Amino acid sequence: MTGATASRAAALGAAASALRAAGIDAPRRDARVLMQHALGLAPEALLADDHVPLGEGEVRRLAALVRRRAAREPIAYLTGRREFWGLDFAVDRSALVPRPESESLVEAVLAHTARLPAHPRLLDLGTGTGCLLVALLTELPGAVGLGIDVSDAAVSLARRNAYHHGLGERASFAVADWGAPLAARFDIVVSNPPYVASPELASLAPEITRHEPRTALAGGDDGYESYRQLAPQVAQLLAPRGLAAIELGAGMADEVESLFVASGLVEISRRRDLAGIERCALFARDTDAGF
Ligand SMILES: C[S@@+](CC[C@H](N)C(=O)[O-])C[C@H]1O[C@@H](n2cnc3c(N)ncnc32)[C@H](O)[C@@H]1O
Repeated sequence: MTGATASRAAALGAAASALRAAGIDAPRRDARVLMQHALGLAPEALLADDHVPLGEGEVRRLAALVRRRAAREPIAYLTGRREFWGLDFAVDRSALVPRPESESLVEAVLAHTARLPAHPRLLDLGTGTGCLLVALLTELPGAVGLGIDVSDAAVSLARRNAYHHGLGERASFAVADWGAPLAARFDIVVSNPPYVASPELASLAPEITRHEPRTALAGGDDGYESYRQLAPQVAQLLAPRGLAAIELGAGMADEVESLFVASGLVEISRRRDLAGIERCALFARDTDAGF
């Protein structure tokens, strides 16, 4: 792709061409991010010194990253980082790359802080990178939280992210099948469960289907399998006056509401994401209907 003596500008052009040929949507932008990562540079340095030739190691590192991106690996897995709620998260293939639309769960909970006790107990079911739990613990300094995931590797990643944000004392993590083994009650339960229906999986972008973990995506034949499992558990785990914020797949809000209402919860509100899609449903116990 590039020779050892190619300038940064020439290498960037060659990387962008290779990505364009592989059908990547924004080849120049991705090439720039990969180049910064391969060279360990700040964006300004890349622009200012674009005549500087690449060293051999840099050429090899950039070529490897471009090959992986051409195979449609998400940029976040290549750089190992993704921002969520303005915070920096480590990401890897054990967990879904945090999505901006999931920030609507954080917003939904924070809109009701007046109702929470001074030291709320948080539960994040299907924690992945830990992004929801870490964002909420950062916003609620008196809170403590537990993140659960069925994936051992995801739990390790979430634990690392919590430590990275100085939350080692307030966040704990466990490998489990949702909340099945838990006896405690929680003031806030959040969950972004897998909700893609099996027949739809194949039609998602290759970045998702080839590289993100199936356990983070697949919601059974109709997409509602995890919601069916979660609804009775969340009803059981919620403390009096507690709140549950559940992420919704597009067009799934009414059916999810029915499942949670059938388990003894009431829907307080729904929240749309920036694309206008109903993305989060907020529930309370039906005994708290005067909410
Ligand atoms: C859509 S991802 C959400 C990850 C993260 N909370 C986020 O919002 O980016 C769903 C997560 O649920 C986990 N999961 C799937 N089935 C589970 C189960 N039965 N028990 C616990 N976690 C599960 C997956 O491993 C994955 O990390």
